[in-house]
Amino acid sequence: MRSILYKKGISVFLFLSLFVAFVPVGTNARAALREPARGRHAMVASQQELASKIGVDIIKKGGNAVDAAIATGIALAVVYPEAGNLGGGGFMLIRKANGEVHAIDYREMAPKAAGRDLYIDKNGNLIKGEGSSTVGYHASGVPGTLAGFDLAFKKYGSGRITWRDLIEPARQYAINGYVLSNRVANLLRSYDKSLSKYEESKRIFLNGGHFYEEGDTFRQPDLARTLERIERNGAAEFYAGETARMIAADMKAHGGLITLDDLKNYQAKERTALKGNYRGYEVITMPPPSSGGIVMLETLNMLEGYDIRKMQSNSAAKYHVVAEALRRSFADRAEFMGDPDFTTVPVAKLIDKKYAEERRQSIDLKKASSSVKVGHGDIPSGESMDTTNFTVVDQQGTVVVNTYTLNDLYGSQVTVKGTGVLLNDEMDDFAARPGKPNMFGLIQGEKNSVQPGKRPLSSMTPTIVLRKDGSLWFALGARGGPRIISAVIESVINVIDHDMDIQAAIDAPRIHHQWLPDELLYEPVGFSPDTLNILSEYGHKFTERPGYVAQATGIMIDGKGVRLGAIDARGDGEAVGY
Ligand code: DON
Repeated sequence: MRSILYKKGISVFLFLSLFVAFVPVGTNARAALREPARGRHAMVASQQELASKIGVDIIKKGGNAVDAAIATGIALAVVYPEAGNLGGGGFMLIRKANGEVHAIDYREMAPKAAGRDLYIDKNGNLIKGEGSSTVGYHASGVPGTLAGFDLAFKKYGSGRITWRDLIEPARQYAINGYVLSNRVANLLRSYDKSLSKYEESKRIFLNGGHFYEEGDTFRQPDLARTLERIERNGAAEFYAGETARMIAADMKAHGGLITLDDLKNYQAKERTALKGNYRGYEVITMPPPSSGGIVMLETLNMLEGYDIRKMQSNSAAKYHVVAEALRRSFADRAEFMGDPDFTTVPVAKLIDKKYAEERRQSIDLKKASSSVKVGHGDIPSGESMDTTNFTVVDQQGTVVVNTYTLNDLYGSQVTVKGTGVLLNDEMDDFAARPGKPNMFGLIQGEKNSVQPGKRPLSSMTPTIVLRKDGSLWFALGARGGPRIISAVIESVINVIDHDMDIQAAIDAPRIHHQWLPDELLYEPVGFSPDTLNILSEYGHKFTERPGYVAQATGIMIDGKGVRLGAIDARGDGEAVGY
């Protein structure tokens, strides 16, 4: 088959400069000047080119999108260690070619020894440093990644690819190494202070304190041995085998919480995907324990009441209503959301169009609301957990959107002795002290307090959008904590309301609002002072400094069936198609 692999030639810097200079004012600007990658048959868009290529190779070998996603995910644990992982967790959303949808929750789980006040000292203050929810041996939830991949492989893989096929390419990169980019070498160095507190992390990721330079070959022999055992023994190796024993032993040696029993008890779970629609287009997304899908559908439902297309893509009017809708949905996030196995989440009500209509009533088109006054919506307790389902229609092409994480870059900063596996600090996604902000500034409630066996509330938002005939249109997800939700929402409206292709939709400037703190975050590029002045006149308070709103990767199917792959201008990666 003819390869039509396209590479994006314009550097991010050049793109951003051009962007500032040429975005037309007063039109529905097709904001980005970059072409998406194109592939007639398949596309993998990930934040590391080597991992994308591994995914595409699996498809060329006869695998399906699920097989490719798993191989890409395993590879990212080696070639993108800041976030790719075996020691973290996440969510995989699958829509098969026959229209079946599957949502796999492989979010981390609080260890049995964890409790509500784990991260609070005797004076009632949040513990900092070792013992906290953000760094060190107490910060990790029981990892879910391999359990999730195992479930996906066994139930939804093609059956034509072996488990070994999925692991081996990653193992090769772990043994033979890969060349570090300038960005990654600098990033590792910038984590000197935190990584060097943990001997194994210092040895592996900081070259024993001598650091890596751009162009060095980075080898991870311990991780290669772990992958070899996983290749041989399956995912059970991580949960009940030698690797599990190594994790439990390292935890015990450092006063950590995760035991062999915790690992043995971990289970990935299948959830019912959320389905809503925006202006008649079906939107399929992730249910709790991610808040992402609910917050997105609630926000889109509110925005449906406005003529966003007429407001135009980069107007103050549009940013204002997006911010106001986000303010309200994030207030509901704080009050109503948590692990559905531990608490009742009023999903159906929150994503109901009528509820959005009520929430929309308090939005003033010329005036920012006060977050304190907005508060959460009025929902009686005892609401059912059911989700509204729409009819699933036939289409061509299986799609998988997978978002997984260690939370912070390099997670808890702890690498388990002898395994090369970095662990997550996902425990910080719980409300370590309900009512007080976590590392993302998110205020969260009792529903998301720490309990043994519970999964922390996430913002990950893997999302699939269908055309009105029910065929796959586009799919995307993002990294960036709560900003993920804003990034996915704004990309969706950029496609639907502003006619952008997937690359333009993802690259266009965006804002973020999360209710509290009561501030609007805008990006350093793409916002004119005039727009900001208008937003300020409406009463919006800005964050002290502008900052980027997440990093997304997505794929769109064009009218001829060509797969268009897009990597965010804000981050690394490569979409590889064939
Ligand atoms: O689950 C969540 O919402 C967060 N742990 C995601 C963290 C994240 O995206 C960090 N990304 N850069």
